[in-house]
Amino acid sequence: MSAPNKDFDPVQVTPLDAEQVEGAVADALAAVAAAGDLEELAAASRAHGGDRSPLALANREIGALPPSAKADAGRRMGQARRRVADAVAERRAVLEAERDAAVLVTEALDLTQPTSRRPRGARHPLGLLVERVEDFFTGLGWSVLEGPEVEAEWFNFDALNFGPDHPARQMQDTFFVDPPEDGLVLRTHTSPVQARALLDHGAPLYVAVPGRVFRTDELDATHTPVFTQVEGLAVDEHLTMAHLRGALDALVVAMLGEGTVTRLRPAFFPFTEPSAELDVRCPVCAGTGVVAPGAGARAQGAATAAEEAASTRADDPAGEGAPCRTCGGTGWIEWGGCGMVNPHVLRAAGVDPERFSGFAFGMGIERTLMFRNGVQDMRDMVDGDARFSRRFGVEV
Ligand code: DAH
Repeated sequence: MSAPNKDFDPVQVTPLDAEQVEGAVADALAAVAAAGDLEELAAASRAHGGDRSPLALANREIGALPPSAKADAGRRMGQARRRVADAVAERRAVLEAERDAAVLVTEALDLTQPTSRRPRGARHPLGLLVERVEDFFTGLGWSVLEGPEVEAEWFNFDALNFGPDHPARQMQDTFFVDPPEDGLVLRTHTSPVQARALLDHGAPLYVAVPGRVFRTDELDATHTPVFTQVEGLAVDEHLTMAHLRGALDALVVAMLGEGTVTRLRPAFFPFTEPSAELDVRCPVCAGTGVVAPGAGARAQGAATAAEEAASTRADDPAGEGAPCRTCGGTGWIEWGGCGMVNPHVLRAAGVDPERFSGFAFGMGIERTLMFRNGVQDMRDMVDGDARFSRRFGVEV
């Protein structure tokens, strides 16, 4: 800035000279008009209106003028700077409008255009089937419960009347959870929820418990180390084996369809007495134990349902008259275990066996999917290949 100029000469300082100011404004307006985009405009605005622009520097000189000249110089400089600022604002509005219009064109999205993308996934058929089972039991008025997958050994075995050295503890091929002294296992079946439910709710009780269970099996066509069961438990006064049979018949019809033939075969489980296995007549060979005429060309299991839900693996055709692979030639497939709840189990869960009796059953959901939809290879159920799941639709 020039030196203070009290009331004497010069009355004018060069940068404030009208011509110079007019020239600076003209330069500024030309630069603003020439700015082709917002960046160029910002640069022009900085150069001609910023702190170090000729107009800003001239403005500073006002302080050096004698008081009589200050007002006039201030007014002229204010006008000059306002013209530049107005020009910048006007040009900015124009450039912004141009930019917005260009974005609309370059980033236009035609939402009506058909897409080649396909749905990536589908709900897994096991999940859908579990929902069906739950609907069935809810329809009967039963409750649906869950239990923990990491289970106390006591619930998994002891409460169910497996003695400490009972061979079934090994038979079950259990995953024990470290450290062993904590007494935890990955539950080998859903039956431990029987004792949990009775302890929590007491009798009478009608519950269904779907859930994941774990055994140290290798994954192959008929085994998987992680699978799904549904447990049923009814405890009330005067329940008999006839009630068990009736409940199972209704479940079979709901899951496998009217006309499915079943049988109860004596068996042993520590937690039921008497116990039975529920067998379903093989839907593939219709109980004959051999591959039916005409079925040889395709793999066995090529019933209508199987057509819908065939394996993603190559089928291994078996000729007419060969033993049925699905049932191993026996004509029957084991679906699950069942029986009358052992009084020891009722007692361990705090229920008086003199007053209450109960029946229970446990079915494999993977097996159910196998008979219901002709899935022949359990590996298809764990692969996570959406082509497999999609065949079952996405019912909700
Ligand atoms: N928990 C048995 C298993 O996994 C199945 C079972 C058998 C469940 C008999 C039951 C039952 O409720 O009564 O092999």
